[in-house]
Amino acid sequence: MKGHRLFYVLAWIVAGLIFLGPFGYSKLFPKPTHYASEVDHFKYGSVGVEAASGVPYEVWRTLPGICMPTAQRAAGYHAFGFQWDPGKATPIGMPLETAVVPRVGVNCALCHVGRVETAAGPRQLVGAPNTSLDLQSYLRFLFRCASSPAFNADTILAENDRLGGHLNPVQKLFYRAVIIPQVKSVLALQQRQLSFMDGQPDWGPGRASGFQPAKVQVLGRPYDGTLDIVDIPPLWDTRLREGGGLHWDGANTSIHEVFLNSGIGNGASAGSINRPNLQRMETWVRDLPSAPYPFPVDSGLAQAGHAVFADNCAMCHAPGGAKLGQVTPIAWLGTDRNRLDAFTVETRDAFLGTRGYAWRYTHFRKTGGYVAAPLDGIWARAPYLHNGSVPNLAALLSAPDQRPLTFHRGVQAYDPDAVGFVSDRGYLYDTRLPGNAATGHAWGTDLSAADKRALLEYLKTL
Ligand code: HEC
Ligand code: HEC
Repeated sequence: MKGHRLFYVLAWIVAGLIFLGPFGYSKLFPKPTHYASEVDHFKYGSVGVEAASGVPYEVWRTLPGICMPTAQRAAGYHAFGFQWDPGKATPIGMPLETAVVPRVGVNCALCHVGRVETAAGPRQLVGAPNTSLDLQSYLRFLFRCASSPAFNADTILAENDRLGGHLNPVQKLFYRAVIIPQVKSVLALQQRQLSFMDGQPDWGPGRASGFQPAKVQVLGRPYDGTLDIVDIPPLWDTRLREGGGLHWDGANTSIHEVFLNSGIGNGASAGSINRPNLQRMETWVRDLPSAPYPFPVDSGLAQAGHAVFADNCAMCHAPGGAKLGQVTPIAWLGTDRNRLDAFTVETRDAFLGTRGYAWRYTHFRKTGGYVAAPLDGIWARAPYLHNGSVPNLAALLSAPDQRPLTFHRGVQAYDPDAVGFVSDRGYLYDTRLPGNAATGHAWGTDLSAADKRALLEYLKTL
């Protein structure tokens, strides 16, 4: 025991000499990478997560090798549906920056960049929801790995060597004494904080728990028993959202506040959050156009559909519509109310009362329904409704009791007839589970078959 402690003390001293002595602070915490292009900045720019809660890269890269079953190992982190540019060390949305050691963080693009398969190959959709990202499975993998016997310095450092890591003997000592035990205890803490997940239905690909993790991890509140698993929305054309409700229930009305709060929610701290980088992203996505529909459109039919849309939908969904950006009361709307009820008055007050940041939140509110949002790029936002309970637009235009009870999601192949991602394979979604109901939003469901066909064609053009 005593020798063990001495070892730690020595390791700290050695580490201190190496890092602090000759190089100083700027070597320990260098400025984050500057990306000249806006797209690269959005995909890889730091919002300040790495220093506060990033996973040390030299450990992160070894985890598939030491913890995944052999069959899954070849896929590695690809198994979780990340989007990945060729030749990159980390997926899109996982900036790699140094804070004492290189660390993998999170930024907005992890969830807000999607992809679709086309005849010409996969097409990246910057700003679209990542409909294949299975974040919960990724988190569970990290937690399981960190608490397994395989998670020890010998195994991790051997795997790092095997992968061609370049840790020198002194660095290895530092990883052994400080970094690896730290990763283990941080992941164990996160596992305890997020243990509420295990009593709820799985998120599945393309979905995440909206506010519950932040309630526990940021606001420090106990799990309140609510359920708020939602589809990831797109992050483009945010100019269309100004003055209206943001988040599915419209719980905030300031894009700037939602950006700051998202940075914190992703794991930045009051001290580490990178506000200039966030501001650059905020400015850019204001006019980031939604992804155009990548398959043929029958423009005559779409034109006929425009009239149907104007009569039945424009009031709530078109720019200039009287109710665009407004909250539609839940009693009228009739969709699953779990997410609405999960953002409680207490949650609102906790955000409004938050101190300790360089800003105060003033735009959080408690609403009584869900927001009627613009439908730009709606083709890429399947499955539909806030809980992702309806696989495609054809099903959304069917009477609620005619919509599929179960379907599959998470694949990037597309079905242009039904207008949505292919839903006969992938993760099985069950609308009968709590929070997953496909009820409500009956607008358009009693149109004639011809009008529905035309409307579907028009919706492809948005
Ligand atoms: C882990 C996945 C994830 C990451 C990472 C993420 N978001 Fe989101 N984002 C979501 C989900 C899920 C929602 C919807 C939450 C809700 O309303 O319950 C959302 C909602 C939003 C909204 C409101 C959109 C709307 O249609 O109302 C904005 C704006 C936003 N995010 C910006 C960001 C920014 C900026 C970042 C990076 C700092 C970010 N997000 C990172 C998943 C993510
Ligand atoms: C009274 C207002 C209102 C009208 C009219 C209306 N909607 Fe909606 N729409 C909403 C609201 C509110 C939501 C969000 C519901 C939810 O997620 O629970 C929504 C959601 C949607 C979505 C899913 C968005 C997503 O990102 O998943 C689509 C698609 C949609 N509406 C299409 C239409 C079409 C097509 C029409 C006309 C036939 C129409 N809506 C008429 C209020 C309206």
